[in-house]
Amino acid sequence: MDEKQLDDEGRAIWNSKARFWDALHGDSGNIFHQRLIEPSVLQLLDLSAGERVLDIGCGNGALARRIAKLGAEVEAIDFSPKMIELAQKRSPARTAITYNVVDATDESALLRLGERSYDAITCTMALMDMPAIAPLFRAASQLLKKKGCLVFATAHPAFNSNNPIFLREKEDRAGVVLDRYAIKLFAYLDMPPVKGSGAPGEPMPHTYYHRPLSALLADAFAAGFVLDALLEPAFTQEDAAQAEGLTWANLWQIPPVLTGRLRLPPR
Ligand SMILES: C[S@@+](CC[C@H](N)C(=O)[O-])C[C@H]1O[C@@H](n2cnc3c(N)ncnc32)[C@H](O)[C@@H]1O
Repeated sequence: MDEKQLDDEGRAIWNSKARFWDALHGDSGNIFHQRLIEPSVLQLLDLSAGERVLDIGCGNGALARRIAKLGAEVEAIDFSPKMIELAQKRSPARTAITYNVVDATDESALLRLGERSYDAITCTMALMDMPAIAPLFRAASQLLKKKGCLVFATAHPAFNSNNPIFLREKEDRAGVVLDRYAIKLFAYLDMPPVKGSGAPGEPMPHTYYHRPLSALLADAFAAGFVLDALLEPAFTQEDAAQAEGLTWANLWQIPPVLTGRLRLPPR
């Protein structure tokens, strides 16, 4: 399949599981969102009221609603019409959010949103679902105002987008029982797209496009961006004390999310 066919397949899959995703995330996102994604994205965004923000791959609009609550005017886009319909249903009529169906791999469609019209662009947990990300970065470099920024959050390329195998081991070391969690990885540099489910019970797996850090950022750099901030949000040791089983909360030393801020240097 070529990139266009892969993208079309992705849209069909996201449409068919939009209802599941919407129920899973509710109004404010799941624990990953509330504890890792949203705080790190808001920290890097450093929003002022009245700013215009474009949220790309908005899902059911959890982040868009949070950003609108902070006083921004949000344009939220997703390529799944079903997802946009559900996002609209969850957003009160008077919020400052406009939802639209736009494919983020379609550079001209993105550019039609208005060049130099956004103070910030966000894209959370969606880059790894796209067969091509160069069009998004190229368009973003035109859509942003001169001092604007693009804040992305993605499954951490070093630990969480390359099919990690979760491990638990128990060892009696001189009378002290160690109960430890780990992940095992077989690939990082070159890994073909794989189907996976983002959450337990997902009705249908979709394709993940793993990109090592160098590849993820190469498309952004080629579009003229520089990276000026990076966060690696993780769960805490206190979370691990409460957590059960093979979950990221038990891997408090390993960040499952990577959040970065890109800017256009002054010319
Ligand atoms: C894992 S969800 C993340 C949703 C939301 N940003 C969040 O953080 O909860 C990925 C979203 O990206 C959307 N998406 C995937 N490929 C896309 C594309 N090419 N253009 C626009 N949206 C896309 C999907 O429909 C889905 O809503």
